[in-house]
Amino acid sequence: MDAQLDFHHIGIACRDIAKTLVFYVSMGYEPSPVVDDPLQRVRICFLEKADAPRLELIEPLDGQSPVARTLATAGVTPYHLCYEVQDIEEAVASLRGQRFLLVNGPIPACAMNDRKVAFLFQKNTGLIELVEATRE
Ligand code: NI
Repeated sequence: MDAQLDFHHIGIACRDIAKTLVFYVSMGYEPSPVVDDPLQRVRICFLEKADAPRLELIEPLDGQSPVARTLATAGVTPYHLCYEVQDIEEAVASLRGQRFLLVNGPIPACAMNDRKVAFLFQKNTGLIELVEATRE
């Protein structure tokens, strides 16, 4: 692996962010404002808590949303890990070298300040998201 992957968040598919939030807020997580990303057909809320992994709740905006399929087959569930990388094109190339298929991207994610994201899948690993680090 050439590119360094720094853990960023766990993505959780949910049907209704407001309902799924309740449990995490009761555990002390701070929710971000909810942001719609029409490009990915999802609505997103980040949850943060000191010394705990960052979580991302993802709700489908419509039945065509990729996350709608996840919910239909698996219900509310964690379904991707996201890693931050310095150079997303380089990291995508590196993962493709490890037999990952590029599912989506790199495209700007409006819920993440238009940082570029990409999704890759490999059958022994599952779904991985990459997000490009902000450059100074
Ligand atoms: Ni994510």
